[in-house]
Amino acid sequence: GRADTPADLVARAGRARLAPAGYPETEVWAYDGSVPGPTLRVARGARVSRRLVNDLPQASSVHWHGIRIDNVMDGVAGLTQGAVEPGADFLYDFTVPDAGTYWYHPHNRSWEQMARGLYGALIVDEAEGAPDVDIDEVLLLDDWRLTEDAQIAGGFGNMHDWAHAGRIGNWITVNGDGAWSRTVQHGARMRLRLVNTANARIFSLEARGLEGWVVALDGMPLETPRPLGQLALAPAQRADLIVDVVAGDGEEAMLVSFERDGGYAIAAFNVDGVARAERLPAAGPLPPNPVAALGSLETARRAELLMEGGAMGGMRGAMMNGRMMDMRDMASAGKVWAFNGMADMPDAPLIQADRGETVRISITNDTAWPHAMHLHGHHFRKVGTDGTVGPLRDTLLMNRGETADIAFVADNPGDWLLHCHMLEHSAGGMMTWLRVA
Ligand code: C2O
Ligand code: CU
Ligand code: CU
Repeated sequence: GRADTPADLVARAGRARLAPAGYPETEVWAYDGSVPGPTLRVARGARVSRRLVNDLPQASSVHWHGIRIDNVMDGVAGLTQGAVEPGADFLYDFTVPDAGTYWYHPHNRSWEQMARGLYGALIVDEAEGAPDVDIDEVLLLDDWRLTEDAQIAGGFGNMHDWAHAGRIGNWITVNGDGAWSRTVQHGARMRLRLVNTANARIFSLEARGLEGWVVALDGMPLETPRPLGQLALAPAQRADLIVDVVAGDGEEAMLVSFERDGGYAIAAFNVDGVARAERLPAAGPLPPNPVAALGSLETARRAELLMEGGAMGGMRGAMMNGRMMDMRDMASAGKVWAFNGMADMPDAPLIQADRGETVRISITNDTAWPHAMHLHGHHFRKVGTDGTVGPLRDTLLMNRGETADIAFVADNPGDWLLHCHMLEHSAGGMMTWLRVA
């Protein structure tokens, strides 16, 4: 397959045009001078080699989200490597075992560094059996909290954001563009690779003038593609769609997000011309990735994770292992969330598994907010109460009050994070880790 060329990935301050003409450019932090950073695209099994050069005023690192790579390349500052200090560099060098849609971002002060613009896509092409499409498009969805002169609002570590839904922005971009659009032909078939790179926003997507299927979630192919209806995309989640442009010549197709404040267009496709006279057959499944099948869920190694906290000012206390904690103490310590009563990264792993063992973790969301639970280095399946298992994912959206079990084969040795990908929540304490021996 195609090999990636070793190169630098330079993180530094710069400017980007996020807002329409008439507004100033925004001061951002960017990889290689652009928001998003460069799309890295390789074939399955190829090697990726990128030297992070840190020209930022803060220590940083790069995490390759969703890729099953060696633990020492996972990029978690303070767990799998030391933070890369300003002026220093670090060589990331690994091979990619799975095809699909992945991404990369810092894993040090990520709530600030990602909100300032540090993220990019890593696309791994199928070695064979890729779907036949006319257009293959990567769409990185983000929201920004911008001031009236289009600058990034400060206040990182703001207690209100940490205690509540997280940093929700007032300006949506796709690929760093506040009005992303492209021209397509009627009848064209597209593969759209959606990535939610926002700190905390859950996009709730619907298509207009496009018809098709969801063929992969979080990079992993669905055994059976599902018709595209409404698609919730929590922070860090990805979806690969195969869609046909059914809007007529001269019309507009679009992706729309429906949220509390109504619906708005995320991405517009201007239809100009006609690609084909006949519709193609339904999209088949993508070739599977070599993920080990789950072992017995009855004899799996088990752990329980209780998510607590998230309210302040006496509205709701938090029970930590049966003891009432004073949320104000946690707040003054900069901590408002807890896993199993710990509002700090624990010294000991939540669970220790032998290589190849099936692990099952019961997670209870005993908070007033949804959360996006992300596991590093593995993909898991959600286990239903009736024992049925869902598709492979690396990030699970959990509603408030929900209990869910996840199960996976612990086949990647090392220390792996399990955390909420609403970044103010993980910064506030929703972070734990597992050890695979
Ligand atoms: Cu996308 Cu631990 O991160
Ligand atoms: Cu990750
Ligand atoms: Cu959360």
